[in-house]
Amino acid sequence: MTAPVRIQLARNAAARSALTIVGCFEDVELETGNLTNPIASALARAAGRAAWSGRAAQRSEAEVRGRTPGTVVLHGLGKSEAFDRGKLCRWVRRVAVETRSHGVASAQVVLPDHSTAAGFDRAESLLREFMQSDYRFDEFRRQGDQTRIQSFSLVPPGNELATYRRAAKVAKATAGGVRLARDLANTPPNVATPAWMATQARKLAASHGMKISVLGPKEMRARGMGGILAVGSGSANTPRLIRLEYGSGKKTVSLVGKGVTFDTGGISIKPAAAMDEMKYDKSGACTVLGIARAVAELDLPVKLRVYVALAENMPDGKAYRPGDIITCYNKKTVEIRNTDAEGRMILADALAWAAREKPHFMLDYATLTGACVVALGNHGAGLFSPSDDLASALLEAAQSSDEYLWRLPLWPQFLADMKGVHADLKNSGSRWGGASTAAAFLSEFVAGARNWAHLDIAGPAYLGNAHAARGGATGYGVAFTIHWLRSLKR
Ligand code: BES
Ligand code: MN
Ligand code: ZN
Repeated sequence: MTAPVRIQLARNAAARSALTIVGCFEDVELETGNLTNPIASALARAAGRAAWSGRAAQRSEAEVRGRTPGTVVLHGLGKSEAFDRGKLCRWVRRVAVETRSHGVASAQVVLPDHSTAAGFDRAESLLREFMQSDYRFDEFRRQGDQTRIQSFSLVPPGNELATYRRAAKVAKATAGGVRLARDLANTPPNVATPAWMATQARKLAASHGMKISVLGPKEMRARGMGGILAVGSGSANTPRLIRLEYGSGKKTVSLVGKGVTFDTGGISIKPAAAMDEMKYDKSGACTVLGIARAVAELDLPVKLRVYVALAENMPDGKAYRPGDIITCYNKKTVEIRNTDAEGRMILADALAWAAREKPHFMLDYATLTGACVVALGNHGAGLFSPSDDLASALLEAAQSSDEYLWRLPLWPQFLADMKGVHADLKNSGSRWGGASTAAAFLSEFVAGARNWAHLDIAGPAYLGNAHAARGGATGYGVAFTIHWLRSLKR
């Protein structure tokens, strides 16, 4: 696993730094008062250049004439009233690009004095952004293509230093979880088989004081887990179902992740275009493992249960087929219409297994449907829940942690669409409302739990091939979940 960018926090910019980057607005006078002298005079020179106005994307630089030579770079951020979180996050990427272009491993960064960078939640997500600003998946390169940024020394705005210090602990744990989720999801499907994922989960459990148990095909057969067995039956890489335990708080929170290590579609095979992106079909599994890591690192007072359902969906002589009727763990039967609707089949068993414990909350994370991507794009996930309270708490957490989440309906009509002809259910409905029919199908496997939420992360879980160089898997979902878990009363 690659190391995140280390962050130090400082009240003032230090004169020693080889590179100082300062974000400033077009309409706000540059504050040089709290910068040490050689830097302040370099800043004044950079800001004094005729062409400089602070317009968005503008830059101006000057040499620091101090005992240690260095460079000061001003980044224009445009008008301060027009500035928002999205621009702030894009600026963080710009800071990383600037730093790399100077060939240095560290820089100090003076943050803009603006409401978008003030308060605990914003500090936390901004710090996370900096920690991940140099993320690349280089595991399989002979040599990394560029030098890595090792650390940023950040100077928070105005009176925010203490808030940033407090937020840094949460940011670091969350960023660590996000990074784990990204590294796992980016790992190619010839390496990241269900057995390999189980090995990674064992390592996580050993290093973070979690209990772990892993079911293989034999144990699944003994328990009647026909869904995950059916999906895995076409692959030489046999399925696994992991259960992790951490913590002893009063409230039991169970998280379930879809881990299809590769989704060819099976006998209902997918077209060739971009099929390689289906290595990311294990993103839900990676997200719940990332959450578990962050929960342990922060030692949050919850009783966490994590279920990771792992299988590879392949076409084969032993593969399950359209027309098959499968009996799931809770004894409900499902008629297969489309072997590409495999996520719900493995989640059916995992959810029903998780529901035995009657957790206070049960959340599942899955790259479940293309329909959800059609509805929401790659920006955010679909949220489905019978509980208005849980739904609003999750929406609030997403808003506060800069992840996008949008509630979609679970109307009874969607469930009616999933009734089978020759079995209790079928695994694929009519053409329309595919994200909701999938969610309605899952609702049949949660043993009537009201405090259940399904998160369809098919859109935001990864950047497609056109943008994959920016990091591929995103680790979406770790941040808002940690935010929500932190808000739970003991
Ligand atoms: N893994 C896919 C969903 C997906 C699509 C994820 C695009 C990311 C990007 C899932 O297993 C799938 O194939 N779903 C089908 C369901 C259909 C056959 C009912 C889909 O969405 O087309
Ligand atoms: Mn599929
Ligand atoms: Zn899938």
